[in-house]
Amino acid sequence: MFSSSTRTIPAHSPVPRHLAVIMDGNGRWAKKRFLPRVAGHQQGVETVRRLVKGCTDRGIGHLTLFAFSSENWRRPAEEVKYLMNLFVAALEREVGRMHQNGVRLRIIGDLSAFEPRLIDLIRRGESLTAGNEKLHLTVAANYGGRWDLMQAFNGLVQAYPEKAGNYTEVDLEPFLAMNYAPEPDLFIRTGGEQRISNFLLWQLAYCELFFTEQCWPDFDEATLDTAIASFRKRERRFGRTSEQLLAAPDNKTNPLAAVLTAPTLPAEFPDA
Ligand code: FPP
Repeated sequence: MFSSSTRTIPAHSPVPRHLAVIMDGNGRWAKKRFLPRVAGHQQGVETVRRLVKGCTDRGIGHLTLFAFSSENWRRPAEEVKYLMNLFVAALEREVGRMHQNGVRLRIIGDLSAFEPRLIDLIRRGESLTAGNEKLHLTVAANYGGRWDLMQAFNGLVQAYPEKAGNYTEVDLEPFLAMNYAPEPDLFIRTGGEQRISNFLLWQLAYCELFFTEQCWPDFDEATLDTAIASFRKRERRFGRTSEQLLAAPDNKTNPLAAVLTAPTLPAEFPDA
């Protein structure tokens, strides 16, 4: 269910409930190895597989991956074609395994631009896994944060024209593409760039950001744990002051106090 950090302060969680990832650096990974750029994308699929397992192992409930942005059509035509074929191959190969592992797959984005075969695989994968709950995996494909906001605004206006001029956040949220998930609380971008690149513009409002130089094909569980350890150290104030957090009677909403008073930390979070 959608949760809004601007309306309700989320309860503290030592592990992110929702991890959003920009998988960057595939091309550079390949170039360093004198391989074609697309070899980096191919290797990137292996990283996706590892991360899905890493998230289920750590109790992360939602994982959202930026696979293809609405601006990625600007890439060379052969690279775009390769990526589309890679999505087809990945869906054909991975959906059965995802289903066995309790993963629910959803794709967000403007799918109308895709080949019928890809759309069909997406729909079949989504319906096969619709009953799964262990990990909600969302893949953003031909997705842009501005596209999402515009399609949501348009949907809202069409549904409730009489309310024009008085719409609220609560009215808009059901129309967002990812209306079923809590807001991401941790965002990771690999590949050294430090930007959001038109990803989940609405949902990242209070998300903790983590950037790593590691290229996506090299991203591993150790870096995931470093990111989670960093997340655990953040003072998530949601507009409040540090003093208010420290005075809070219930440290469930106070990550800093929770870390300071935790009797023992699990071994997988050595830096927390
Ligand atoms: C950015 O790296 C990566 C992409 C635009 C594609 C990401 C896609 C995958 C990892 C394929 C698998 C995904 C799924 C969910 C099946 P880049 O090419 O911009 O790298 P660079 O910045 O080094 O050039």
